[in-house]
Amino acid sequence: MTTTSLARAIDESLWRASTPPHFTGALPTEVDVAVVGGGICGLTAAYLLKQAGKRVAVFERARLGAGDSGNTSAHLTYVTDERITRLAKQFGNDAAQLVWRGGAVAIDLIESLSRAAGIACGFQRVPGYLCAPFVDDPDAVASREALRADAELARTLGFAARFVEFAPPTSKAAIAFADQAVFHPLDYLFGLASAIEGDGSIVREGCDVGAMIEDPFAVIVNGENVVCSDLVIATHTPLVGIRNLLGATVFQSKLHLYSSYVLGGPIADRSLMPGLYCDTANPYNYLRVHDRGSARYAIFGGQDNKTGQVTETEECFERLAETLLRVVPSVQIERRWLGQVIETSDGLPYIGEVSPHQYIATGFAGNGLTFGTLAGLMIQGAILGRPTPWQELLDPDRKPHSLGALERLVRENIDYPRYYIADRLRPHDASGVENIPRGRGKVISLGGQRVAVHRKDDGDIVKVSAVCTHMGCLVRWNDAERSWDCPCHGSRFTPEGQVIGGPAEAPLEKVE
Ligand code: FES
Repeated sequence: MTTTSLARAIDESLWRASTPPHFTGALPTEVDVAVVGGGICGLTAAYLLKQAGKRVAVFERARLGAGDSGNTSAHLTYVTDERITRLAKQFGNDAAQLVWRGGAVAIDLIESLSRAAGIACGFQRVPGYLCAPFVDDPDAVASREALRADAELARTLGFAARFVEFAPPTSKAAIAFADQAVFHPLDYLFGLASAIEGDGSIVREGCDVGAMIEDPFAVIVNGENVVCSDLVIATHTPLVGIRNLLGATVFQSKLHLYSSYVLGGPIADRSLMPGLYCDTANPYNYLRVHDRGSARYAIFGGQDNKTGQVTETEECFERLAETLLRVVPSVQIERRWLGQVIETSDGLPYIGEVSPHQYIATGFAGNGLTFGTLAGLMIQGAILGRPTPWQELLDPDRKPHSLGALERLVRENIDYPRYYIADRLRPHDASGVENIPRGRGKVISLGGQRVAVHRKDDGDIVKVSAVCTHMGCLVRWNDAERSWDCPCHGSRFTPEGQVIGGPAEAPLEKVE
């Protein structure tokens, strides 16, 4: 039953169902602030800076929100992936409180900006629940007691949190939080972009951003120099140009890229109320319920794995669908998509100045929309010389605070030598191109070269080098998403080799 329902699902996020306007036109030669990346962080920073009197330019490689902002499940919550008791243990109670306050500030900011700019993005306050595992909890007593401890700490730190014995959707123990929210992320982003345009500020899609140059300080966009006083890199992964190759490589080692699988569809059972529901399974499941027209709609995600390290991605969707049908039996699955989540070893993002007048924001984990918004606010403050309370805590140059964070940093970085070496020791697959089914891809040896071969639905063959342009690992075929994914640091490419997501900046080489 699951396979059948998935076979009919549209491979696109719910947010992309509408057709927003394009942002094209001439490039400026000079602005006050250049922003690379048209997701929630870049557009929030640009909007706030324009409000403060700056001329800003946002340069997006593809379409606005084409990256993770358009593939999110759109939870607006201050409840972080890193449990509050763990945050407090690592950084102290004051820091844990500051991080959650940052999420609450971000939700308030989205609400006020959407009102101020007249953006119809369906912003709505809803309750949130952090629940014991939705299904199959082998240690329910421990889950329950850990939730109770979290609720107690959250309440002590001033948050509207309470422990409940039975919470939706599966009547498990949970913490209930007031004042979380939902919205339509792309409607919001395109609304911000429209408000940025004009009076010397611009937003441009389809921009190829190359190197940065120092004298005069400028970024090269589509081959043209755009001189700026400040540069914001809001691309999730650091561009090589920001700190030179070594600096970008060292920074990349602090980021861990995971793929998260998402399903969406209307639900018949209206007793499940609009809200945000996450569980404490590992990896965790997350459910957003909202009203869409006259229908109630569920978005369900989970099955996270490190990008490029699981090739049977169809099975991930099938397992996710099985769980969803146990949690919300009345759902009709109509869409599926994949998002990328960037984690850090200590659970907190990196936001701030990395070189004079150069700012970066990344590592938002499952809180991309709230941390992305907070990052926009922090970067505005930094550029205007008004430090925000989060600056020191989220400093991109901070060192691991705990042994656990240090251990994770080492563990996550074993992937690079492991996959690089193992792929080269693996016997060459010399099976012919003719054995690749339509719609599939495979890395095979052709003329002594590892080639990523994709057979399109019409039977045509596309061949590109299998060597990732970041640091030389071999890419793997992602069947569900029809992409080439790199297991070392999580770069993703289209079947034709174009970059979907970094750290790789150059496309896979064409093979004739
Ligand atoms: Fe780093 Fe591919 S080698 S992402």
